[in-house]
Amino acid sequence: MSKALTFPKKFVWGVAAAAPQIEGAAFVDGKGESVWDRFARVPGAVDNGETLDVACDHYHLYKQDFKLMRKLGIKNYRLSIAWPRIYPDGDGALNQKGLDFYNRLIDSMLDQEITPWVTMFHWDLPQALEDRGGWRSRVTVDAFRGYSQTIVKAFGDRVKDWITLNEIICFTALGYGQGDKAPGAKESQQVINQTYHNALLCHGVGMQAVREYGGRRARAGITDNSPVFIPVSETEADIEATKRCYADHNARILAPIYTGAYPASYLRSEGKDRPIVAKGDMELISVPTDFLGLNIYCGTFVRAKRSGYEKLPFSESYPSASCTWLKHTPQATYWGTRLPHEVYGVKDIYITENGCGYYDDKVENGEVFDLHRRDLVRNYLVELHRAIQDGVPVRGYFLWSFMDNFEWQDGYKTRFGITHVDYKTQKRTPKLSAHWYSKVITGNRIV
Ligand code: NOJ
Repeated sequence: MSKALTFPKKFVWGVAAAAPQIEGAAFVDGKGESVWDRFARVPGAVDNGETLDVACDHYHLYKQDFKLMRKLGIKNYRLSIAWPRIYPDGDGALNQKGLDFYNRLIDSMLDQEITPWVTMFHWDLPQALEDRGGWRSRVTVDAFRGYSQTIVKAFGDRVKDWITLNEIICFTALGYGQGDKAPGAKESQQVINQTYHNALLCHGVGMQAVREYGGRRARAGITDNSPVFIPVSETEADIEATKRCYADHNARILAPIYTGAYPASYLRSEGKDRPIVAKGDMELISVPTDFLGLNIYCGTFVRAKRSGYEKLPFSESYPSASCTWLKHTPQATYWGTRLPHEVYGVKDIYITENGCGYYDDKVENGEVFDLHRRDLVRNYLVELHRAIQDGVPVRGYFLWSFMDNFEWQDGYKTRFGITHVDYKTQKRTPKLSAHWYSKVITGNRIV
């Protein structure tokens, strides 16, 4: 047997998913409409016109899903709470049935000895709030205060690990600038910068809710999909160039959270489009976190140039998953964790998502041979192990995703799960990668 790539003793292994992508029951038990429920009905917005209405029907099937998790040896599960289930209009009247549902869900997870890691917001903004300005407005920050306090008070006796927001860029720049994610708006750069700022304020507000109502053992942080850069050679010059590139590209989110200020270069480059910052905002945004969650899928290669750095393009033959944005770049887990540690001094890091999506995972004689997924995840884990060996404080890893689900504007064709979902019958079939990952978790080492 070759020398085992073993992880530190208390390393946290888990899987991840998010409410809007798996729950379905989009209009059941008083849940309000989310921006994604609305956006999915805009012709052409989602592939095949698919909606979130039923998804994996996890709303009704959660018990069997947790049993399956347990069978696979999964002990940590990152889930999200749907804001519009708790407050159908974003604020105002509370929907008790929504709270009841998550109470049942969390209890059933604990029955299976699975620890919940809860994301407060994974993109499903109540449509009623969007109608009042959405992320453009501080109305959303006020509403988030009430929502985050309510859920921390309700579930904080059983939930100890909280993630305020998931991937700010995806519900701000991509939702209000590029417009390919909900709400599909096209705003000016100033408005986009303000949506980032308002999201950061919500992060601070969520941190405060956990500090105030979460109890002594509660911990909280944010999940960011910080752009990852990989030096094309691990030489001093390319590494230095990559660091500079990393700092430039993380000026909007990590810099304000971890330094308490937007970098001067960012404010200069945005000029009159810079966000409007009120007194006290930066203190709120930079409330100390307990950890940083990172969703890492791929990185961009960088090399040193006399005038600084240069980002390198991928050619068509560069290997990728079926969803072509996902390039096979295993070193992303190494540099994607080492750089925030070195540049911003982040102490505790969790990979809150890593995985890959393919179009052609199918069940044959009860099996799904997703060797491509097993291979990609394994390569990324080897590089993560290297980071830990080099002293990067990575404490855990969550594979995205437990099961195939609604992949936003791609609908259901891109399958990210280690469990196959037959959307006609809702049958779950663990793929080869799930059986392999199960051995990694139980052995605490790469197998
Ligand atoms: C990041 C997002 O958080 C998640 O919702 C999405 O499905 C995965 N990436 C895969 O694209």
